[in-house]
Amino acid sequence: MLCKELGRRLGMEVNRWEKQDPLRSEIVDMVCESDEQSAITSIDNNDCETSDRCEIGLQLPDGSVACWESNLETAQSSLQHARTIVELIESANQRAELQAENDALTMQVVNDFEELSLIRSLSSVMELPSGGISLDDLCSRSLIPLAGGIGATSIAAVFVDEHDASKFATTWWSGSQVTSDQRLAELITAHRKEASFQPVVRNKINAFDHVIDDEALSEYVLVQCRSEGRLHGWLIACNRCSELTEDTPWAQLGFTTVQASLLETATNQLAAQLHNTRLIKQKEELFTDVVRALVNAVEARDPYTCGHSERVARFARCLAGLAGQPEEACERIYLTGLLHDIGKIAIPDGVLQKPGRLDDDERAIIETHTDAGWRILHELEALRDVLPGVLYHHEQYNGNGYPDGLAGDKIPIDGRILAVCDAFDAMTSDRPYRDGMPIAKAVSILQGSAGESWDPALIETFCANIDKMKAIKQGHRPRKQASRPLPVDGQPLTTLTTNK
Ligand SMILES: [Fe+2]
Repeated sequence: MLCKELGRRLGMEVNRWEKQDPLRSEIVDMVCESDEQSAITSIDNNDCETSDRCEIGLQLPDGSVACWESNLETAQSSLQHARTIVELIESANQRAELQAENDALTMQVVNDFEELSLIRSLSSVMELPSGGISLDDLCSRSLIPLAGGIGATSIAAVFVDEHDASKFATTWWSGSQVTSDQRLAELITAHRKEASFQPVVRNKINAFDHVIDDEALSEYVLVQCRSEGRLHGWLIACNRCSELTEDTPWAQLGFTTVQASLLETATNQLAAQLHNTRLIKQKEELFTDVVRALVNAVEARDPYTCGHSERVARFARCLAGLAGQPEEACERIYLTGLLHDIGKIAIPDGVLQKPGRLDDDERAIIETHTDAGWRILHELEALRDVLPGVLYHHEQYNGNGYPDGLAGDKIPIDGRILAVCDAFDAMTSDRPYRDGMPIAKAVSILQGSAGESWDPALIETFCANIDKMKAIKQGHRPRKQASRPLPVDGQPLTTLTTNK
């Protein structure tokens, strides 16, 4: 009766065991082996032959119902046991669900941690030095850790032409080049539109895609590199690492949204740095242009000294390097050389352009150009480093120079270096009223006054490397004065260009 009712209610097949309680353990085993939440258990003794016996019904995990007859005492025990088993199964199932949820969360945390680690790592390697960084350095710093971070065998960066974004300019590879530049260009062209709003992921399972017909490039993620509305290019992560490594704990065959997201984040960082690099480059170019404009302003006052500042700057940079100065100091001294006579802007034409010897009053006026140079430049924060050389390039080693009569090592090294180079160029350059003297004679004069007018150690270094100085002098070509464009058909040009 019970079995029939259970079967009817549950729509299940009813299996009846004629044998009695010994089956209990088998039933329990079956319940225990179950993956499913199971059993409705019940007892009924209405149909039993004697009042101390009853029928047990148990819904099994496979969907059937098992019924058998037992004595009452054993039936109660079997029933309780079965219910306990069901509770255990339910508990085990809940535990399994929680474990699965926990595993998923752990995987998410691992992925997030890896993403954060990669972003942090890229942020530190892509940190721009104050002087900017070349595209080569930026790519090599970022692409190599990026490839390892997302588990790609290599990453290609394809950049567009700086002046025409429709043209591909340069391609950089981290790791082995797995396909040709031509293939990359085709791939980018095929995905250009899609990549403009989301990363493009293609794996081996997408072999029907007409783009993947290259055995060496079997899977990739393509991300557009853009910042501030400017397209820089694309990054393409090629071929997923097929083996698990410590660096790629989540590695598996093919790229997923995890790698696409990582590549997109890193590409955004790279794009921001490319934008910053361009800004720094523009700032440096503006700075250089301003310095050249100042030099032009000086040399426009005295055309016969055309090129003097540039030559002195080159000699000074060379001598500074030979004297063991670090590269940063060499560049500072070069810049100082360009500007060392900026104060001559303040000298009257009659004195500045006078051919022949100056009298004492005129000499006193010309000697004010070092102070004038300091006054012109000292408020410019970016040029503060050049002030010692501008102010002290006419000091003499024995203390007889100007403006402050400093002596020996009290004279800043920039001033001592420029003093040697300024004198050498002045002696060996032609002037309207005299020809430049031979280099050998200039060297003799320098050596003759070493320790008096000039730092003896610098004179020794300079003269020992006179061939280098000679090459600099012979190789230097003064820049031509720009000639402004004239109106065409009576119309002025809207963009005025100069010949640099
Ligand atoms: Fe000077």
